[in-house]
Amino acid sequence: MSDSTQYFAPRPRVASKRAVVRARLPGVELDLVTDRGVFAYAQLDRGTDLLLRTAPPPAADTVALDLGAGYGAIAVVMALRAPAAHVWAVDVNLRALELCAANAAAAGASNVTASAPEDVPEDVRFGVIYSNPPVRIGKSALHALLSLWFARLTPDGHAYLVVQRNLGSDSLAGWLQEQGYGVDRLRSRLGYRVLDVCLAPGSLQ
Ligand SMILES: C[S@@+](CC[C@H](N)C(=O)[O-])C[C@H]1O[C@@H](n2cnc3c(N)ncnc32)[C@H](O)[C@@H]1O
Repeated sequence: MSDSTQYFAPRPRVASKRAVVRARLPGVELDLVTDRGVFAYAQLDRGTDLLLRTAPPPAADTVALDLGAGYGAIAVVMALRAPAAHVWAVDVNLRALELCAANAAAAGASNVTASAPEDVPEDVRFGVIYSNPPVRIGKSALHALLSLWFARLTPDGHAYLVVQRNLGSDSLAGWLQEQGYGVDRLRSRLGYRVLDVCLAPGSLQ
């Protein structure tokens, strides 16, 4: 399914044409640079906006992950809300990762590390994971991706996901429950669901 015209291509083929997104969110207002070939070009995605209005920031000293960070909207906003936390922002799209690092630097969020997935040290564990996940990679690839990173949650960790209802949020929630996770539907708005996923006591790890 992946090809160089998709937003999750490692090197998008589409020519660069940068744009600026103004993110106006509770406690944070900032400009973020986006580009063609990166998810949600020239706008804050509505699902991302809902996640950022719903999910709690990382607790102080927590290590957080933005899984599929794109140009860094979630990573940078959560890092600014929680300066004593550290946020890993991972993506396979190198154009997105460059933007994420530059957006974090421009916002003064020195607690963000933009990284290719394979460059996150294996012993890093996450107290919280945020993701507007890449549903378009296909169901089995998405399940594998979530399994891979959720295995790195701390025992009391939570993952906050935003998924469009018509892109399978409810079946994803069902699949996560089948895997033994606790899943709570935190919010449902404008066709998006925000899911709070945790390790159900005694079921995992
Ligand atoms: C729906 S977009 C969300 C982007 C950004 N978080 C936002 O809210 O604007 C999903 C992101 O996941 C990335 N992605 C796809 N496959 C991935 C993988 N295997 N590991 C990490 N990120 C991946 C895509 O490149 C894309 O940037």
